[in-house]
Amino acid sequence: MQNSTAAEERYRLGRELADKLGATDGPSTFDLLGMTWELLPGTYAPRPGTGTEWYTNAIPYPENGRFLEIGCGAGVTAVWAAKHGCAHVTATDITASAVESAARNIVRHGVEDRVHAFRSDVFSDLDKDERYDTVFWNCSVLEAPQEFEFTRDVERAIFDRGYSALQRYLRGAHSWLAPGGRAFVTFNSLGDASRLHEVADQAGTSLQPLDSSTRELVGKEVTFKLLEIYPKVR
Ligand SMILES: C[S@@+](CC[C@H](N)C(=O)[O-])C[C@H]1O[C@@H](n2cnc3c(N)ncnc32)[C@H](O)[C@@H]1O
Repeated sequence: MQNSTAAEERYRLGRELADKLGATDGPSTFDLLGMTWELLPGTYAPRPGTGTEWYTNAIPYPENGRFLEIGCGAGVTAVWAAKHGCAHVTATDITASAVESAARNIVRHGVEDRVHAFRSDVFSDLDKDERYDTVFWNCSVLEAPQEFEFTRDVERAIFDRGYSALQRYLRGAHSWLAPGGRAFVTFNSLGDASRLHEVADQAGTSLQPLDSSTRELVGKEVTFKLLEIYPKVR
């Protein structure tokens, strides 16, 4: 159970983030990492200050390897991975708007031969025979109550009901890895770190910090963490 005041404050902040980071009425563009990206309404807009810019540079991409990104949003990390040594990238998201934004950016940046984007609820729609050298999710860090109703696509980028998608991700990540592969998840100080570790434990995993960075987001200092997922030794 979350402490109710802290949970209410997180929820309020989440709504503020959804309003600030949700895209506008029509298609737009934004600049990040020295490149211009397309964005459709409903897709999370990873503007400077969000974790995306930092994570995208911090991930240890598999040279000539296969990279799986869950929750690709506008496809910044997936496109970047293909341009920085990955031979094959699978990029998925639960929302159609994110997948369409990613598809546009894949074409815009000329990596359609090695990046494929499609809809999937965590691992549900992946080809069961595929395996990856690196699995990654910049997850939705605010825990929403089980009765929370998603009414806008962008809320999927902020809220996770009972951290249930996160738990499925942590539980399943290792089964998609090729021998020697590595699995990562992000988290930041807006989320509930004690719940993260509880959920990781329930998923039979432990999380080890690989790197972190503190930046300003919506007027707050936020610490972003890149965590490596390990199967828990029982
Ligand atoms: C914090 S955003 C990150 C987006 C993008 N990777 C970035 O860094 O800009 C989290 C993303 O996960 C997606 N997502 C949320 N729940 C999901 C689920 N159950 N399965 C797949 N993707 C999900 C959201 O739609 C959103 O695009």
